[in-house]
Amino acid sequence: MPEMHRSMENNPRKRKEYNMKNAKLIMDRDFVIGTVDKRLYGSFIEHLGRAVYGGIYEPGHPQADEDGFRKDVIGFVREMGVPVVRYPGGNFVSGFNWEDSVGPKELRPKRLDLAWFTTETNEVGLHEFADWADEAGSEIMYAVNLGSRGPEQARDIVEYANHPSGSKYSDMRIANGREKPFGIKLWCLGNEMDGPWQMGQKSAREYGRIANEASKMMKWVDPTIETVACGSSSSEMPTFGAWEMEMLDECYENIDYVSLHRYYANPTGDTPGFLARTMDMEDFIRSVAAICDAVKSKKRSKHVVNLSFDEWNVWYHSSEQDKEIWKRDKWNRALPLLEDIYNFEDALLVGSMLITLIRNADRVRIACLAQLVNVIAPIMTRNGGGCWAQTIYYPFMHASRFGRGTALKVLVDSPTYSCADYDQVPYIDAAAALADDGSVSVFCVNRDMEDEFELEIDFRSFGELKLDRHILLHHDDVKAVNTESDPMNVAPQEGPGGVIENGKATIRIPALSWSVLRFVP
Ligand code: AHR
Repeated sequence: MPEMHRSMENNPRKRKEYNMKNAKLIMDRDFVIGTVDKRLYGSFIEHLGRAVYGGIYEPGHPQADEDGFRKDVIGFVREMGVPVVRYPGGNFVSGFNWEDSVGPKELRPKRLDLAWFTTETNEVGLHEFADWADEAGSEIMYAVNLGSRGPEQARDIVEYANHPSGSKYSDMRIANGREKPFGIKLWCLGNEMDGPWQMGQKSAREYGRIANEASKMMKWVDPTIETVACGSSSSEMPTFGAWEMEMLDECYENIDYVSLHRYYANPTGDTPGFLARTMDMEDFIRSVAAICDAVKSKKRSKHVVNLSFDEWNVWYHSSEQDKEIWKRDKWNRALPLLEDIYNFEDALLVGSMLITLIRNADRVRIACLAQLVNVIAPIMTRNGGGCWAQTIYYPFMHASRFGRGTALKVLVDSPTYSCADYDQVPYIDAAAALADDGSVSVFCVNRDMEDEFELEIDFRSFGELKLDRHILLHHDDVKAVNTESDPMNVAPQEGPGGVIENGKATIRIPALSWSVLRFVP
């Protein structure tokens, strides 16, 4: 389990000398964005690579419980605070038969997984995963297969999971040892159905029709559920925008959320350009929200469709390695795929992505860091060995822990810079949340490679506040990583903090850093 802090004084690394710049944040209790849905801090486990087999599940491991689940991994997930986990895919779900994953384990078939060119053994299925999610303190967000299958099988799995008893599939669940329904509230209507890599790719109209019928039938079985329709698999898809318009035109009234997926990369080592990528994320969110509202107006509807950013992260480090793995070991079980090793600059971008999500908490109600264990993940394991936190674990844990309650508007007055894709990128990126106990957490990324900031925070109507803590994530090397043998190389430490006088705080924010400033009444 990682320590929460390492004090700067004990830090053996020497700190560089920096210049000082100035920036200002203005906040007011009444500048409210909206309530932060706890599902903003969701994550994702796909039957892919070593996420399940060798990640959360490794029978025989010294840390495995009686069901084969690794207790060390559960410890990290609990500490991270993950209220909802999307499952079982991802691309995987578009060829998945849910019936294969329930019933006696010895009767479950082995299947070729055409999404990731591996063999799925179905040792872990819905019942096992639900037990794991309970232990981890998470609810399940279940994705149905609308690729190779359709509305009928989607309806059946809702009946299996949520109907009390007295029907074919609910009785099958009971016969499989689970009397009480799973009560899964959140359902994804397929995955990335616009992508040519997807089994059963569809046009926007085709998908919209199928999503509409599936969602209707699923909700007729259980009217308490919510459904998420697939938006574009990235804002870079040539059909982005048109896809959302056309598919929503078909299913708007019967679905509750549209999904957004986005991964960023830094293949050229351009750190300022990489850290500016959240400008694109912000634009993506605003565009999809605008399209939802345009369709609402066109239909003269009263129904509001919100956003589910159910795949987001940095993803590129493992791409070449994966090609080699497929050349060597295609169709093997639990191939070590998508095992990105995250560095310090990745943690800064993840921090900035979290800030972007909090800033848009009125429309983004659900978000899933993709993924959770081993596969583009904050938590890593070695088969038979240890478990450790990658750099990106920390901003997520801080946001999940302190970024609940009410998202507040933060007016940011910061010097800016230009990079290849953007002009006017503020060096200081910030968001804030007001908790029920009156404490205020300010999250801040300093994108400046060279200079430290003196950050003035004008609290206006908050009354007396004290600075309780300044949690800082900083490393002098943007490429620094955590490993099993050096798991705390990039880890939170106490920040320099500052003073607070007459409703104004003045805080030192080191160059290239993630800060959490905790103010208490
Ligand atoms: O998260 C990895 C993959 O990325 C998912 O399976 C897919 O939905 C996306 O393309």
